[in-house]
Amino acid sequence: MAKARLGQAEIEAAGLEAQLLAAHVLLVDRPWLIAHGDEPFPELAGEAILAARLSGKPLAYILGWREFYGRRFSVRPGVLIPRQETEVLVETALSLLDSTATVLDLGTGSGCIAISLKLERTEWEVVASDISPEALEVARENARELGANVEFVESDLFSNLNGEFDAIVTNPPYIGFDEPLKGEVALFEPAAALYSGPTGMEFYERLSRDAWGVLRHGGVLMMEVGYRQAEPVKGVFATLGWAVQEPVLDLSGVARVMVCTKSRDDSLAIFLDPSRVETLNQRYTIHNRGNANRRS
Ligand SMILES: C[S@@+](CC[C@H](N)C(=O)[O-])C[C@H]1O[C@@H](n2cnc3c(N)ncnc32)[C@H](O)[C@@H]1O
Repeated sequence: MAKARLGQAEIEAAGLEAQLLAAHVLLVDRPWLIAHGDEPFPELAGEAILAARLSGKPLAYILGWREFYGRRFSVRPGVLIPRQETEVLVETALSLLDSTATVLDLGTGSGCIAISLKLERTEWEVVASDISPEALEVARENARELGANVEFVESDLFSNLNGEFDAIVTNPPYIGFDEPLKGEVALFEPAAALYSGPTGMEFYERLSRDAWGVLRHGGVLMMEVGYRQAEPVKGVFATLGWAVQEPVLDLSGVARVMVCTKSRDDSLAIFLDPSRVETLNQRYTIHNRGNANRRS
């Protein structure tokens, strides 16, 4: 049975994955499969797909999609699979920015951040960039498929980007060569989307120098960070005169998003009301209180 074989291979959520793979092979959706619970896993057609999954190929590359912020995004090898924790970045931008904003999603990958923002805030002007033409091709396909009017630009950091933005959101490569990834991520996902250089801080260091000139006065930079990077990232940006807010936590309580405003002078208008970051973090407290209640 597919579920048992996935379980033996120590794949988490083996039952869910078995259903998704069966639905993929049968060209039906999961609710249909659940409603027809006794349908056998399609042995012949399913075997190749099951073998691919057992060899470590990520589920999202087999299915060709991953859900992000409630929508389905196409993915394929060469493009990073969207991660659930990145939804915190989307949530942060939606909570902090005003109703009209010009937003850049730097390193857009599948386009999941830019497209989610544009669909949630149709009045925003959203530009998405990436150094990878392969990623941009997928992102454009996703924007077309989901009906999001996003402008895409191929660019190494800001080299091909003109104009000024109210906000930059980015989930940059932030893994250091000294913490090599294991398993299916290392084998199948694009290294250029994951590794920033020897320490993992290189992309943040470039951003801290170069984003200043691309943001409007009072503009805001929101970045996903790795689980031990909040403090070092804060140090890098504070040294160059950015105003650094308290980090936004993910639902596991990990400091996940850093928010920096472009202001060296407190007397100048700040685009962002810092109390909104506190409000965002209260949802984490409430979530965890809810979990604690469930456990007790
Ligand atoms: C961690 S992935 C994030 C992808 C997507 N935003 C997401 O959250 O799923 C980082 C992305 O940055 C892109 N990237 C790497 N170096 C870059 C550079 N110098 N300039 C622009 N984009 C870059 C990679 O191609 C990759 O798509």
